[in-house]
Amino acid sequence: TSKSLTPDVGIFDVDLFDTSNTTIAALKKQSKKVICYFSAGSYEPNRSDSKDFKSSDLGKVMDGWPDEKWLDIRTANVKSIMLKRIQLAADKGCDGIDPDNVDGFDNDNGFSLKASDATTFVKYLAGIAKSKNLAIGLKNALEIIPDVVDSIQFAVNEQCHQYDECDVYFDLTNQGKPVFNVEYPDSAPNVTASERKKLCAAYDGVTLSTTLKTLDLDGWVEFCDETKATTSIL
Ligand SMILES: *[C@@H]1O[C@H](CO)[C@@H](O)[C@H](O)[C@H]1NC(C)=O
Ligand SMILES: *[C@@H]1O[C@H](CO)[C@@H](O)[C@H](O)[C@H]1NC(C)=O
Ligand SMILES: *[C@@H]1O[C@H](CO)[C@@H](O)[C@H](O)[C@H]1NC(C)=O
Repeated sequence: TSKSLTPDVGIFDVDLFDTSNTTIAALKKQSKKVICYFSAGSYEPNRSDSKDFKSSDLGKVMDGWPDEKWLDIRTANVKSIMLKRIQLAADKGCDGIDPDNVDGFDNDNGFSLKASDATTFVKYLAGIAKSKNLAIGLKNALEIIPDVVDSIQFAVNEQCHQYDECDVYFDLTNQGKPVFNVEYPDSAPNVTASERKKLCAAYDGVTLSTTLKTLDLDGWVEFCDETKATTSIL
């Protein structure tokens, strides 16, 4: 017998390390698509492979995330660790990967990383993902969308409605590639009608799959209506 899921959506974006093989297998058995999240561009101290990073790979502490440091995404060591993470995603049965924090170039990272470094890195990750039959998404990093759009299958965005920048996703949605957008309403958990209207708005020609959450991802979620359209694209 299969348990009913809450929420019962078509696609789950779960933590690659913290989500058990059993959970991923159970989701797949219910015909759900599973995207596996990991940080590709930041060092976290508590992952099973954290000791594999060299001190020279680690840059500045991330603003707002005091346990994490930007990574030098140009190094062979960082690339080889990420290759192993993608292999783990494939072994665990994930359908796709959501490599986070590729936008060091947009932050004070400690290495003077440039947008072109991010493009090179995302294309590297995309090549590995493709070889293992995994879909790959671009997380935020709006500036490099035109350079990587042909290498990715979806995008994960935070707060593009809040910052009025969802229109840059036209390059993806125009190719039929979904954009999973998360907004963090100030008025959560009791979202006001006016805030909901702004955060759930559809742009001309750009339809996003939007969810409303709290920044600490405590399980509270609301769905915008257009979300229902995108469940079977991976
Ligand atoms: C994570 O790692 C840090 C530094 O090694 C350690 O102090 C902390 O206790 C760890 N936290 C957890 C939840 O394991
Ligand atoms: C989960 O799957 C991975 C990849 O196949 C494997 O390395 C790991 O040992 C498995 N973990 C458990 C608890 O079975
Ligand atoms: C949200 O609304 C519920 C039900 O009206 C109320 O009990 C709760 O206190 C409200 N929460 C906040 C944070 O305003």
